Formats: sequence, structure tokens, C-alpha cells
Amino acid sequence: MNSEKYISHTVMSLISAKGGVGTSTLTKELAIAFSKDVSVCLVDMALSCPAQETLFRILPTRTMEYLFKHKTGDLSPLSWQDLEPYLTPVPGRNIHLLSAKQVKGAYPLPLNRIIQLISSLKAYFDLVLIDTDMASTDVSAKLVELSDRALLVTDDTECSIKNNQRFRRLLTQKQISYDHMHVIANQIRKESQMYSDQEIEALLHIPVLVTLPYYDQVWKYNNSYLSLYEDPVSPLQPSLSSLVDRLFKLLEK
Ligand SMILES: Nc1ncnc2c1ncn2[C@@H]1O[C@H](COP(=O)(O)OP(=O)(O)OP(=O)(O)O)[C@@H](O)[C@H]1O
Ligand SMILES: [Mg+2]
Repeated sequence: MNSEKYISHTVMSLISAKGGVGTSTLTKELAIAFSKDVSVCLVDMALSCPAQETLFRILPTRTMEYLFKHKTGDLSPLSWQDLEPYLTPVPGRNIHLLSAKQVKGAYPLPLNRIIQLISSLKAYFDLVLIDTDMASTDVSAKLVELSDRALLVTDDTECSIKNNQRFRRLLTQKQISYDHMHVIANQIRKESQMYSDQEIEALLHIPVLVTLPYYDQVWKYNNSYLSLYEDPVSPLQPSLSSLVDRLFKLLEK
């Protein structure tokens, strides 16, 4: 292990109020990058379209909905024995994946179970990294509250910025601090009206940590064992690398 890069019992979420902006891709890349130095539990809370099992090309044996079936009313921390059957190791990497079934209707996990789950996982991993979507805004808001750092992913469209502004206002209404939030600006389209970092910061009142370039081959990395972070020739490599360095610094306690 590289002793200069060390964090422990840390929670970080990637959140976006608009779909299809690269949240899952970036969560996968961050899991790979952080796993070089620390143990990572990747939790797929993007329940309207859980993508991590596809991105890592693995098939989880059990999904998280069943974790609580024998735990009626019991909110005490889950043991490793409780958790382990649901965690699928990613071959060759210091990553365990906790996945969920896709949901169409109501979110299957109540907030108190999510708190129980995340705080339990935290005890066994250096980093709990969470991929979310807006399947439940309440859940996303709770994850912001539970996280040491929360990364708000946006593309360069008005729609994405507006949805994220709405989400940020919801945090204010719920009196959830977003001082620990940062923006990742991801350019997912070639033709771009990319807002400048200053414009995004002014619109969202959240600092931009990194701006990622458009790359028409990202899908190739999403459908193979390849990683943008590990590929020195991928145009996203330099910005992902500096993002990881900055996050390590921010997460060091
Ligand atoms: N920087 C980029 N340049 C070009 N394409 C990108 C970039 N980042 C992501 N993409 C592409 O955008 C699409 C959406 O990515 P991804 O599934 O990660 O987004 P998401 O926000 O998790 O979406 P969902 O709402 O379905 O959960 C994918 O096809 C991915 O290849
Ligand atoms: Mg996703």
C-alpha cells in the first residue's frame, strides 16, 4: 500500500439529479482508482438502473433487499457475517460490490435501514463508495447527510444544472449541510455549451472539483474490464488522476 494515500471508515456518494450524466461511469472509475490504495465497498444505490454489475462484468449472488429479512425492527449494526453473503468481490481488485435489484415502484429500503447499512459497512472498509440516482430524492438527500464527501455530477445542459439546483434547494429545506459537496462537471456530448467552472459554481453554490472532457469511446470502457483511469491514453485519465489526488487530500482525517 502507498502509505501517503490512506483513508479509513469513509463514506463518499456520487449523486446527480439528472440521469445519464456519467454518475455510474465515474463511480466505477473512482472505485478502481481508490482500490489501488484502500479497500473499497461499492454500493449500487442507483435502483432505477443498477449498472455496476454490468460495468464490472460480474453477477452478484445476492442483492441487498434481502439483507434485512430476518432483522425485523433490529437496527443494531450488521456484522460481517450478516454482510458478507451480499458482497461480491471484484476479481483482481480490492473492491466488493453490494448491488440491488432494479425497482420500478417504491424504494425498497427505508431510510433507517440505509443508515444502518452504510454505518455497518463503514466499519469493515476504508471507503464506502455509493452510486445513486434519483429513484428516491429522500434517499439521495440522506446519503449526502451520511457521507464525508458528496460529489454532485452534472453535464453541461441547462436541464442538468436546473435539476441539481432543485436538489440543492431540497437539501436546504431539509437543513442538510452541503459544505462537503463538490461538483464534477462531465462533458458527455461533443457539441458543447459547457458552462465555465465559475458559472456552475455561481448557479449551484457548490465548488467544482474537476471538469472532465468529452470522449466518444467512454462506452468501450463501460463494456469491458478496461478502465479510463488505468488507460494512460484515455483523455479522461489526467483529470481522473488529479480528481483522485484531490479527493484523497479532502478525505484524509
Ligand atoms: N466524458 C464522457 N464523454 C462521453 N461519454 C460519456 C462521458 N461520461 C459518460 N459518458 C457516457 O454517458 C452515458 C451515461 O453514463 P452513465 O451510465 O455512467 O450515466 P448515469 O448518470 O449513471 O446514468 P443513469 O441515469 O442511467 O444511472 C454512457 O453511455 C457513457 O458511456
Ligand atoms: Mg447510473
